[in-house]
Amino acid sequence: MAVGKSLSTVVHSSCCLKNQYNFYKTAMTSLLVPPMSVRGMTCLDRDAFATVVNIPILKLKSNTIISNIKPIIKKYILKLPEFKPIHKTSDEVIVYLNPEIVTKFEDITENDRQSLVGQYEYFSTKSITLKYENWRGHEILKAILPEDIQPPAAYSLVGHIMQLNLRDIHLPYKTIIGQVFLDKTPNVQTVVNKVNAIDTTFRYFTMEILAGEKNTVTTTKEHGCTYQFDFARVYWNPRLSNEHTRLIACMKKDDVLYDVFAGVGPFAVPAARKGVKVLANDLNPESYKWLQINVTANKIKNNFKAFNMDGRDFLRNIVKNDILSRRDRELHGSEHIIMNLPSSAVEFLDILPDWFTQDELKKKIMGKKKSNQKNKNVFKVATVRSIKLKAKAQKVVTNLKKLDAKGNKIAKKDKTVNMDQLLEDLRKDMQGSSSKANTTQKKHTKANKKRVVSKIALEQTNETAAMIEQMQL
Ligand SMILES: C[S@@+](CC[C@H](N)C(=O)[O-])C[C@H]1O[C@@H](n2cnc3c(N)ncnc32)[C@H](O)[C@@H]1O
Repeated sequence: MAVGKSLSTVVHSSCCLKNQYNFYKTAMTSLLVPPMSVRGMTCLDRDAFATVVNIPILKLKSNTIISNIKPIIKKYILKLPEFKPIHKTSDEVIVYLNPEIVTKFEDITENDRQSLVGQYEYFSTKSITLKYENWRGHEILKAILPEDIQPPAAYSLVGHIMQLNLRDIHLPYKTIIGQVFLDKTPNVQTVVNKVNAIDTTFRYFTMEILAGEKNTVTTTKEHGCTYQFDFARVYWNPRLSNEHTRLIACMKKDDVLYDVFAGVGPFAVPAARKGVKVLANDLNPESYKWLQINVTANKIKNNFKAFNMDGRDFLRNIVKNDILSRRDRELHGSEHIIMNLPSSAVEFLDILPDWFTQDELKKKIMGKKKSNQKNKNVFKVATVRSIKLKAKAQKVVTNLKKLDAKGNKIAKKDKTVNMDQLLEDLRKDMQGSSSKANTTQKKHTKANKKRVVSKIALEQTNETAAMIEQMQL
């Protein structure tokens, strides 16, 4: 028996004029789809989705115990949102079947039919009206949008807000798309669309509210912490959740975190909850405001301080002073600096070469105890430029060592003490100020006239001199 579909459209208590959408004559491939008449709708008319369909049914005896037959029929029953496929009254039990699986009784396997013997009365069809509530969001949008436009599938959920990133082809339908997502997604009260422009400094994006409450202040949870913020005025990305967890897992109780671009706190707040001391900064006053609110909401006590300044100043002053003070107090634990501003964080590293003075580096950062490896690491970071130069200089010195006094290559075993002595002298000579550097080289060549250094060696020596001088060794 074939199951037909009758497309009777129910009365419209419409918010739209009928001629606002086109009545495309498109053949629907499935039996269970909204009526064709909704195609092209741009203003949501929920009543237009009501449609009468013939559904195959099994009539069972009124004394049938549902739990006994469920395992047999569950693969055939009609599963739709807001629809009960088994109706039990005092007189009968009706089971609605999926017309895409069962069109005739024989579509139920012989085994299953045998199992129903004694309970089953007859197989038939019944007309029911399916409404807007019975369709899924994707089915509704597929029915509304032109056939060559797929409904948007990707979205992010941030608290009560659903964020879409609509393509240009979707824009004529943006309001209706927003409304359908709002209706069909549990717990969503506001649907927004990302408008291309991203605030270049504070990294949040401009958004347009498509449907629902005009409220972008929301509350969301990430790894047990609660965050409240105005999604339209601060940066928040639910896709960074794993990155937040990954970095926080590297931190221990005695550590300190300097979060240079903290946003509303997804690194800083859980780190502080873990007992890490946190100094967190953000230039956006709105982020700073919510950061403080989130610190309180997550019951963080004394191990947190928030700042609202430029990241460069934060590093130069707050972070630097805290590191120096930690050295004075000989505190243990690692220092973590997070700079989560992918577009330009690297530019802030220009502070490194003179972040700490040479005196601070030697006396405080390296620390009193030479064994303090962590201090050494900070020293290394701060002198990154010098280290590169040092490596270059070292290469030149190594090359020099391979030459005899006349500049000829010598075998490893023939390296003379004299050559080493010459280089040692050179090093000492080069330690002067830059104004002295040229004179030193001249003196050096004069003083060593007898030990003639070849032209190549001299060039290398000059280069070494310049480098060593820059290193201020
Ligand atoms: C990509 S967001 C990261 C926020 C947070 N770490 C997170 O994971 O959600 C970058 C943050 O840096 C802030 N920011 C941008 N420029 C800044 C600057 N010069 N100094 C300090 N913060 C800045 C922005 O306001 C924004 O909150």
